[in-house]
Amino acid sequence: MKPRRIREGISWMGAVDWDRRLFDALIPLPDGTSYNAYLIQGSEKTALLDTVDPSMVDVLLAQLESVQNVDYIIAHHAEQDHSGALPHVLEKYRNAKVLTTPKGKGMLVDLLLIPEERSITVEDGETLSLGNKTLKFIYTPWVHWPETMVTYLQQDRILFSCDFFGSHLATTDLHVTDEARVYEAAKRYYAEIMMPFRTIIQKNLEKIKEHEIDLIAPSHGPIYDRPAFIIDAYRDWVSEDPKNVVVIPYISMHGSTERMVEYLVGALVEKGVTVCQFDLAVTDIGKLAIALVDAATIVIGTPTVHVGPHPNVFYAAYLANALRPKLKFASIIGSYGWGSKVIEQIAGLIPNLRVEILDPVLCKGFPREADFRALDNLAVTIAEKHKEHNLT
Ligand code: FEO
Repeated sequence: MKPRRIREGISWMGAVDWDRRLFDALIPLPDGTSYNAYLIQGSEKTALLDTVDPSMVDVLLAQLESVQNVDYIIAHHAEQDHSGALPHVLEKYRNAKVLTTPKGKGMLVDLLLIPEERSITVEDGETLSLGNKTLKFIYTPWVHWPETMVTYLQQDRILFSCDFFGSHLATTDLHVTDEARVYEAAKRYYAEIMMPFRTIIQKNLEKIKEHEIDLIAPSHGPIYDRPAFIIDAYRDWVSEDPKNVVVIPYISMHGSTERMVEYLVGALVEKGVTVCQFDLAVTDIGKLAIALVDAATIVIGTPTVHVGPHPNVFYAAYLANALRPKLKFASIIGSYGWGSKVIEQIAGLIPNLRVEILDPVLCKGFPREADFRALDNLAVTIAEKHKEHNLT
């Protein structure tokens, strides 16, 4: 795709990666992604904001073919999907300097072997004049690494936000046209890489609040011409208040745990609780992460395999612990054949979750009447706990 004009002197560049299905060899990308770079040509100087993934370097270089000079390359984030093409761009523009945070400079040296003398560090709040356009750099750590920053273009009131507010979405839309679709993609992205840093992101949102913003131009997905849409969504996601939602990741080998899950889901729904149920044998782990953004309670369902939980449950519990969602309650249900240590083992996997553990329900073999009564009690307890916390 050719560069696309956003405003006078400001162009979108970059690449749409329609076929990418996995990020960091971990995160599912069902809708592909884009690597957005932006070119700002002021009356005196020119800046390129970020680059692209190394796999798409030729796309960016073709877009830059008619650009005679670049004075600055703003590296908001050292991760390779934004900085991976930097060595090629620096090779093309021999006098260009990379502007980044002090942490970013070290990472560019370590990860991409960028010579130290090619980078200049900027302070939080520092400005850079391109002539008739002024860039202001704002440190926004942990969106998504510790070195990240964003750039505010003062005259045009555009926030270039890199991963912050981004959505993994391959599209030809320059601006958001379908907010519902972008909402899910952006929430998936937030859930998978930013949720653990919720309290720091609250502070980042406060920092950008003082700026009047007409456009948010992220480095993944389309540009927001209604910034309030994504800022409000982030405010909701990073808030400390979960919703009246139970997430049940589970797996079942012979149907016993599945029967317990089905029964518990029915009992919770009757009490007005929303439930998100995920069979870990087939689920997209990103969907589970999205559900964890809002959930107040997690109930992990597992059969017993060699005394412990099923390995897929280990993985999901480890992931939930790493993502540090704002859960308040947790419990475990499942079945066993002759003995089980699943409760102790799962509890040991989730130390980061500051949750109250509700009485687990384990049954021997297929669930019977007493087990269903125990599940009824668990549903009552969850519903009451949610009411006590005024969750809606
Ligand atoms: Fe889009 Fe953290 O990289």
